[in-house]
Amino acid sequence: MAGLTFERTAILGATGPTGFHLAQALRRRGIACRLVARNREKLARAFRDIAAEQVTADMTRAADTARAIEGCDLVVDCIGLAGSHMAEHSVTARNIAAAVRESGARCVQVSSYWAYLPAVQIPISERHPRQGGGEWIRARRAAEDILQEAGAAILNLPDFFGPRVHTSTLQQALGEAAAGKAMNWVGSADIVHEYAFVPDAMAVAAELATRAEAYGERWIVPGSGPVTGRQIADIASRHLGRRVAIRSAGPLMLRLVSLFNKSLRGFMQMVPDYQKPITYDAAKLSALIGKPFVTGYEEAIRQTLAWLSGTGEGAPR
Ligand SMILES: NC(=O)c1ccc[n+]([C@@H]2O[C@H](COP(=O)([O-])OP(=O)(O)OC[C@H]3O[C@@H](n4cnc5c(N)ncnc54)[C@H](OP(=O)(O)O)[C@@H]3O)[C@@H](O)[C@H]2O)c1
Repeated sequence: MAGLTFERTAILGATGPTGFHLAQALRRRGIACRLVARNREKLARAFRDIAAEQVTADMTRAADTARAIEGCDLVVDCIGLAGSHMAEHSVTARNIAAAVRESGARCVQVSSYWAYLPAVQIPISERHPRQGGGEWIRARRAAEDILQEAGAAILNLPDFFGPRVHTSTLQQALGEAAAGKAMNWVGSADIVHEYAFVPDAMAVAAELATRAEAYGERWIVPGSGPVTGRQIADIASRHLGRRVAIRSAGPLMLRLVSLFNKSLRGFMQMVPDYQKPITYDAAKLSALIGKPFVTGYEEAIRQTLAWLSGTGEGAPR
């Protein structure tokens, strides 16, 4: 079956790492992008080297949302919110759902595997139960349900890392390594997890968007395979030319630190799942688009450390 083609894509929340790498992936396919976020300066800074339409709009406002997607035949929700604002995902999802219903645009939501937590079946697939869990997990699920109901394709990404990523467990640890410190690790350094290199994940998003079968469905996006914290520290050590120590923190230690750290206090609801091995079964996605290309950890961590050290392409200077 011939793939869908698009004239113009609205990337909502374009200034984050997923928005940035998605814009690159779409441009490689010759699809024009409208880059949408609230903060004009952040938009101009993030896309200083890319000629594309930039629009400031707040997706918690229905009128802004309709204006932001007007004239676009594909809309991708890459909006990210701090833990304390997680419930706002439902507000933005409702506005996006109403706007795409009205305009007839296709819609893709970049979401997280968190919607499937607490993990009870590993590897996690789309058949994993979606019940229980804390406030953040339920907020994610609610927003996904609103958009799926409106016909959107929902992408469940693993924890990710890579150039431009600012908030993730692995990215934070790599940032510590790049700064010459020991890597702080949530849970045991010997338990396997799987992480997505964000440019790979957004190449998958761009491909999946062209498939009519993707819409109204949820899709597990694979990472670069199972890896332990200790293996990551070894890879970082090779690239940095010095031994990178890893310091794992169990629930008790994290609880103690969280007494003095507000953002960690919110994250405590997620900690039980970060103690478990987590991997993904992306067979459903592979059956539709073929087995996606993934960058191995060795190369992906090299690029991430270069960016964090200010030497990679687009690194903050
Ligand atoms: N970090 C991970 O490991 C991970 C893993 C899986 C999934 N995810 C999820 O993947 C999604 C994308 O992540 P990301 O890191 O690329 O996003 P992000 O950097 O956290 O956020 C992207 C942008 O969203 C914009 N935004 C926030 N509220 C908005 C609103 N009301 N209207 C318009 N724009 C708004 C912000 O720009 P302005 O402030 O300028 O508006 C922000 O720069 C998020 O939902 C994230 O939770 C993350």
